[in-house]
Amino acid sequence: MERVITRDGSPTLRSERWNCSFHSLHGAWTEAKHVYIEAGLAAYAKSEDQKHISVVEMGAGTGLNALLAAEWANQHQRKVIYHGLDQALPSQEDWSSWWSARPNESAALDDLALGLRSAWLQGRAFETEFFSGHFHLGAAQSWLAPNPADVLFYDAFSTRQQPELWTSEALAPWLQLLSPKGVLVTYCATGEVFRRMQALGFVTEHLPGPPGKREMLRARRG
Ligand SMILES: C[S@@+](CC[C@H](N)C(=O)[O-])C[C@H]1O[C@@H](n2cnc3c(N)ncnc32)[C@H](O)[C@@H]1O
Repeated sequence: MERVITRDGSPTLRSERWNCSFHSLHGAWTEAKHVYIEAGLAAYAKSEDQKHISVVEMGAGTGLNALLAAEWANQHQRKVIYHGLDQALPSQEDWSSWWSARPNESAALDDLALGLRSAWLQGRAFETEFFSGHFHLGAAQSWLAPNPADVLFYDAFSTRQQPELWTSEALAPWLQLLSPKGVLVTYCATGEVFRRMQALGFVTEHLPGPPGKREMLRARRG
């Protein structure tokens, strides 16, 4: 994989296999924070004051969304239990190259990032006072999540690269994973995906997207 610096100065990885990058080239970390943390985790936490928030991620990749969720949990002193799935981990060489280009202001996250990455490599949980992280190797089509999701990060490659992960059949089990007030958030905002989720009985919201994207999608039970 190749490391690419995106427009907000933060790094992403570009996969030759999928012929696309892991994050938006308009700003990788800006997008991750906007879609998954602000419109997902933080918005859910504002409306629900339960003790633990369950986060599930499809497409955990570099672990950036897990890292930002852990940072949020520590800052807000809210317990987050995270389960992330991916079919393959970026190699250590690729991951280290990616992390070494992190924005200077994120140096304070070094211990958290390295801790999450090594827990994942060693197949063990990563625990802090407010964050419990669990990574799973497996395929989106056959994985059984251990618990319902209050916040579901759906971060597959795009509908062009991976149409099979955006069909009604592929989306249904993930939507069914939502807890009664849970939300699914994704950067993808194509009309077809909105309509498929609606046809499955879920309520979809068009929200303003991160830089370079007009919209993003949030779905909840009807
Ligand atoms: C857009 S990237 C995710 C970026 C990631 N959230 C991050 O912050 O680095 C998509 C991820 O989905 C994973 N993926 C693709 N197809 C998959 C499948 N069928 N099952 C599980 N993971 C899959 C890829 O390996 C890749 O890591």
